[in-house]
Amino acid sequence: MLHTRFTELFGVERPIAQGGMMWVGRAELVSAVANAGGLGFITALTQPTPEALAREIARTREMTDKPFGVNLTILPSITPPPYAEYRRAIIESKVTIVETAGFKPQEHVDDLKRHGVKVIHKCTAVRHALSAERMGVDAVSIDGFECAGHPGEDDIPGLILIPAAADKIKIPMLASGGFADGRGLVAALALGADGINMGTRFCATKEAPIHDNFKNSLVEASELQTDLIFRSYRNSARVARNAISQEVLRLEGEGRPFSDVAHLVKGARGREGYLSGDTDHGIWSAGPVTGLIRDIPSVAELMDRIMREAEEIIGRRLARLTGQYASAA
Ligand SMILES: Cc1cc2nc3c(=O)[nH]c(=O)nc-3n(C[C@H](O)[C@H](O)[C@H](O)COP(=O)(O)O)c2cc1C
Repeated sequence: MLHTRFTELFGVERPIAQGGMMWVGRAELVSAVANAGGLGFITALTQPTPEALAREIARTREMTDKPFGVNLTILPSITPPPYAEYRRAIIESKVTIVETAGFKPQEHVDDLKRHGVKVIHKCTAVRHALSAERMGVDAVSIDGFECAGHPGEDDIPGLILIPAAADKIKIPMLASGGFADGRGLVAALALGADGINMGTRFCATKEAPIHDNFKNSLVEASELQTDLIFRSYRNSARVARNAISQEVLRLEGEGRPFSDVAHLVKGARGREGYLSGDTDHGIWSAGPVTGLIRDIPSVAELMDRIMREAEEIIGRRLARLTGQYASAA
């Protein structure tokens, strides 16, 4: 058992979260994480309407009686989704935990807090974590440069970002980006975090609602098979390397504007790919942690293993180094 400020604050058994994941963060995965003692997040914008989100929340409740949350990601968009209506669906569905991510979530934080919802804000810089703390969030989740999805533009890896944040942040904090096993969990705790948040590793589980071709591709990929796209638009995204990500990089290298790549990267293509099994159909988020993914376990098997490894490392390997294991044994 590893009790941290994170497990205490959110009423879960294990210091492991499954962050919001476009197209992947649905009831099957979220309930599996909850049932295995972690904190899973339904991804609000994966649902086409706020009503569909309310139905997905209800569907998740049918699969678990443990706590889970909803992720609300606020990113620049040509036609912004109706955020306030999604937020309303979350509140009316009596969800008690929300992961916000992206730009300036103040209005969402204020309204969610007014309704007694606990908020964990995910960000990629110490200054953003401090501003979220000032906004009144309950916890932060910090994504290092290793993360899948949007790592920001500072390129500070977790090994530096997490302790730098831990030195300044007072509220509970999750380390995110590059975690897949018990070694990572212990490292995160040692760096000052209260637990870990994982994305890519949860995609390669039995319950992740995506085609097996994507899971197999995560197992086969080394740590070298991702691309950082959209850097020239200052909206960097870490995705699995495939025909589309390579084409986007080629076009960016020619100095082409976003409008020239938009048709390649639109969300619908990513979704169609996840369903059909064509890993070259669109872009899909994955981080270099692929180098540590070697199987497709159930979520419970994965989380049991992470906890077992972490407890073994703390209770034996590290204890032996300090001489405490020998005297305790
Ligand atoms: C397929 C996929 C989709 C993602 N979509 C979102 C999203 O919509 N909103 C968000 O806040 N984070 C998103 N993320 C980021 C994750 O929540 C998490 O922060 C990140 O994956 C951590 O890095 P890791 O993949 O190395 O574990 C996504 C990640 C993946 C792998």
